[in-house]
Amino acid sequence: MTHASNPAAGDGYFTEANSAEVVIARHREAENERLKTVMDSAVRHLHAFVKEVEPTNAEWMRVIDFLTATGHVTNDWRQEWILLSDILGVSMLVDAIDNRKPRGATETTVLGPFHVSNAPRYENGQDICLDGKGEKLLVTGRVVDTEGRPIAGAMLDVWQANDEGFYDVQQQGVQPDMNLRGVFTADETGAFWFRSVKPRFYPIPADGPVGQLLGALGRHPYRPAHIHFIVAAPGFETVTTHLFTPDCPYLHTDAVFGVKADLIADFRTVDDPAKADELGFPNPFTQVDWTFVLARTAGEGHA
Ligand code: BEZ
Ligand code: FE
Repeated sequence: MTHASNPAAGDGYFTEANSAEVVIARHREAENERLKTVMDSAVRHLHAFVKEVEPTNAEWMRVIDFLTATGHVTNDWRQEWILLSDILGVSMLVDAIDNRKPRGATETTVLGPFHVSNAPRYENGQDICLDGKGEKLLVTGRVVDTEGRPIAGAMLDVWQANDEGFYDVQQQGVQPDMNLRGVFTADETGAFWFRSVKPRFYPIPADGPVGQLLGALGRHPYRPAHIHFIVAAPGFETVTTHLFTPDCPYLHTDAVFGVKADLIADFRTVDDPAKADELGFPNPFTQVDWTFVLARTAGEGHA
C-alpha cells in the first residue's frame, strides 16, 4: 500500500467526520508554502462553518447563485467582490492587520472602489470641485513624520463624492471628468491646502447582490461623509485614509466599518470676510485643518 492511499495519513474516504482533514491531506505536495497555509486554513474554517450551519443542498445553491451574481456584476469599474469584503468587515480587518503602525502615525482605512490613478496634479490652493455644487470647504494641513518634522514634497491624492453622493466615475457624462479629485504636493514646510465642498454621506452601490444582502440583513448601505486621502513620501509608509465630518448621522453605522475615532475631524465655521473674498467663497465658510503623520518604512534611518 502506498502512503498516498493510507487512511491513517488522512487521505482515506471522505466522511462527515474527517472531511477537512481528507481535503487538507491532498495539499501536501503544494509547492507554495504560503498558498498551502492559506488553503489549509480556508478549508478548515469552511468545513467548520458548514458543520455549524448545516445548509441543505438548496440553501447551498442559493450561496452559489449569490456568488455567481457577484461575479457577473463585476467589471472594470464595478467591483462587487471588494464591496462584499467591505460590508463583511473583512477589508477593514485586513487593513488593520497589514497597517500596524507606530503610535502617533495617522490611522488607515479602506481604499474603496472609486480611486483613480490618473487624477490631475494641482497647485496648492486650487479648487477640485468642478460641478459647482455643494457648500464651500477650505482644506488645509501639514504632512509630518512621527517626530513632528515636516515632510516637504509629500504627495496627497484626494477624492470625494459630489454633493449628490456620487463619485465622478459613477456618473460619467453627468459630472465633469475628474470632478472632486486631484493630487497635491506639500510645500517645503509640509503644508498643503486646497478648495473643495463639504462631503456628504452616500450609499455604497446597492443595486447588486451585495445591496440585496444588506437589505435582507436589515442593514442600510450608507457611508458617513468623508474625504479620501492617500498620502505618500519616499522613505515613509503610504497612508490610505479618510477624514470624516463629526456631525454625520451614519458615523456610528458605516456600511463598511471604515470609521476610526482618530479620523473624525473638526469642520469649523470660519467667519472671515477678507479670507472668504480671497478664496472666492461666500462668508462664512467651512474649514478643516489636519496633520497627517507618516511612519518611516522599516529600515529607514532618521534624517
Ligand atoms: C468609498 O468610500 O468610496 C467606498 C468604500 C467602500 C465601499 C464603497 C465605497
Ligand atoms: Fe468614499
